[in-house]
Amino acid sequence: MEIIIQPTQQAATEVAARLIATLLRDKPDAVLGLATGSTPLSLYQTLISMELDWSKVKTFNLDEYIGLPREHSQSYHSFMWENLFRHINIRKENIHIPDGNAKDIPRICEEYEKMIAASGGIDLQVLGIGTDGHIGFNEHTSSLASRTRIKTLTKRTRMDNARFFGSEEAVPFHVITMGIGTIMEARTNLLLAFGANKAAAIAEAVEGPIASSNPASVLQMHRSVKVCLDDPAASKLQRAEYFRWVYDNKPDWQTF
Ligand code: GLP
Repeated sequence: MEIIIQPTQQAATEVAARLIATLLRDKPDAVLGLATGSTPLSLYQTLISMELDWSKVKTFNLDEYIGLPREHSQSYHSFMWENLFRHINIRKENIHIPDGNAKDIPRICEEYEKMIAASGGIDLQVLGIGTDGHIGFNEHTSSLASRTRIKTLTKRTRMDNARFFGSEEAVPFHVITMGIGTIMEARTNLLLAFGANKAAAIAEAVEGPIASSNPASVLQMHRSVKVCLDDPAASKLQRAEYFRWVYDNKPDWQTF
């Protein structure tokens, strides 16, 4: 894992945006895995302002609520169109988001996995992290080998996401999410976390044991993970000074 700690959310976001911009310039038909939530918002704004060419890019989103109409303001379909897709030149047929209104959920989950494989696999997966360490909607005790499937949200995640829905009762109980096994197959994972409320989950994920009690910790087993943090999200890392030192002393050819 490469831990990149920056003084502000904006500075950490810019590092992440540069990584994605470099990928899209080197590989115009790259396959990106995308995330929702408040964390990637500034990343999407920065990418939009870079005016990159998305005409050949394919995207796969991590997750979606089950039973929310697509047009609902809090569906991840709406989120992605509002915050990224309508601002860039991506082709509609290259966008993939799990269908939370499908009649046969297991079948579309299987198809989602097949579509990812048929596209050549995900080059770079953007991830946020829940306050309990979940990635996508893989709640604690998710199988570390899981594939795209239905999950039931924990009480804590429903409470965390109530701020978007106005009340906890309005947050759906069920979701479709890429599995942890699916995420682990992305060639690179780019995890972003900002703010002190993510500090405990980040410390466990980066420095704790690999355990399904903090699903993000499995990323320690991945060969290419970058973790972009602001100072508050890094505040519980015991080795923060070491991570800063490594980043500040990267050889020129390794900087981005
Ligand atoms: C949801 C999403 C995750 C996201 C998490 C954190 O559970 N499914 O992908 O990482 O929320 O959200 P936020 O970035 O708003 O803190």
